[in-house]
Amino acid sequence: MQLNQEITTITEGKTKILIPKASLENKVPPRDVAFFNPRAKISRDFSIIAYSAFLKKFHGPKTFLDAMSGVGARGLRVANEISQVEQVFVNDLNPTALELGRKSAELNNLQNYNISEDETCRFLSSFSKKGMRGAIVDIDPFGSPTLDCGIRATVHGGIFSVTATDLQVLHGLFNDACKKKYYGTPIKTEYADEIAVRLILGCIHLVAARLDVEATPIFVENNMHYYRVYVRILNKPDTRDIMGFISHCKSCGNRGIAKDRKELCDICNAKMEVAGPLWVGNLFEKEFLKDMLEEAPNLAVDKKCGKLIEKCILESDMPGCYYTLDEVAEMRKSSPASLEKSIMRLQDNGFVSSPTSFNPTGFRTDCKINKILELFSI
Ligand SMILES: C[S@@+](CC[C@H](N)C(=O)[O-])C[C@H]1O[C@@H](n2cnc3c(N)ncnc32)[C@H](O)[C@@H]1O
Ligand SMILES: [Zn+2]
Repeated sequence: MQLNQEITTITEGKTKILIPKASLENKVPPRDVAFFNPRAKISRDFSIIAYSAFLKKFHGPKTFLDAMSGVGARGLRVANEISQVEQVFVNDLNPTALELGRKSAELNNLQNYNISEDETCRFLSSFSKKGMRGAIVDIDPFGSPTLDCGIRATVHGGIFSVTATDLQVLHGLFNDACKKKYYGTPIKTEYADEIAVRLILGCIHLVAARLDVEATPIFVENNMHYYRVYVRILNKPDTRDIMGFISHCKSCGNRGIAKDRKELCDICNAKMEVAGPLWVGNLFEKEFLKDMLEEAPNLAVDKKCGKLIEKCILESDMPGCYYTLDEVAEMRKSSPASLEKSIMRLQDNGFVSSPTSFNPTGFRTDCKINKILELFSI
């Protein structure tokens, strides 16, 4: 391949990456000649923090499998910026993307960057044998992820990280498609992002359980364009029953997450809308978040990451289904209060409450909506 004026070099984190110039110029990065999304830098920053924190405590071959690498941005950064990593294997169907990655690896003097041109599952299958599996496996597709082969290629005790970008499906525009891809359906609410993440985690849990694998969430994050979840993989029959439903009352804003669906609202008796089946367990592992927070300042990542991880720590033991200041203000027909004051008011009245990493004006609490409205009116 001739690398010509259509190609440019950027530095992300500490890593030089060759990318098509058009990916910086267009609002939606083109897939030709190769895909690179500069706006996904923050998601790669979080990967660097999570993988680095994980590898510091992991005993075993420290291999990273990047099954849909594009120009290699994530794989190159892992190889270059995480000193503990031993081998990086990147794979894509697009030979131009791989060639750009190969040249970038040269530019960064990387000796541990291995390239494969294959279909995702064929690539991952070559690592699914015991002794060959990756400590960290990543799947970063356009749309919804294929999960079985990624789970099989992750070592016992390893991390499987997955992106989903089919936001319309996860936000309730195509419920049949969502049921087919994620085994559950969403409802449209102010906390749609949490429902989407729980649908993805529910699907991973079910697929893994079929393979006698336990997949436990340790970190999740999202922004306007994607959802990303990180789960810890253990090869043992998953006997936990952590699937359930979110029931939401559109009349009064009452909501709840539980193993069983609720038909009628226990505040106003209206019929509730139901999302699921989905993951009703924890979204974060607090100890892992603390490791991430400790690791972040040592890495070339956006300062915003540390702030977000702090919020994740605060919300890690909080109830599901957050509220937003805007929805509460709309119900009260007044302007939104400050987040800090709202959380303090709830805590002063004996409720648990925290901000949430999902939404800058979101808060979690065990206080019911009728009581929230009462407390916020004082
Ligand atoms: C969203 S991009 C990956 C971006 C990359 N991980 C990053 O951080 O810059 C998805 C990539 O998957 C590749 N791809 C799509 N379907 C594939 C398949 N079935 N097998 C292998 N690669 C595939 C595309 O060529 C594209 O480069
Ligand atoms: Zn109600």
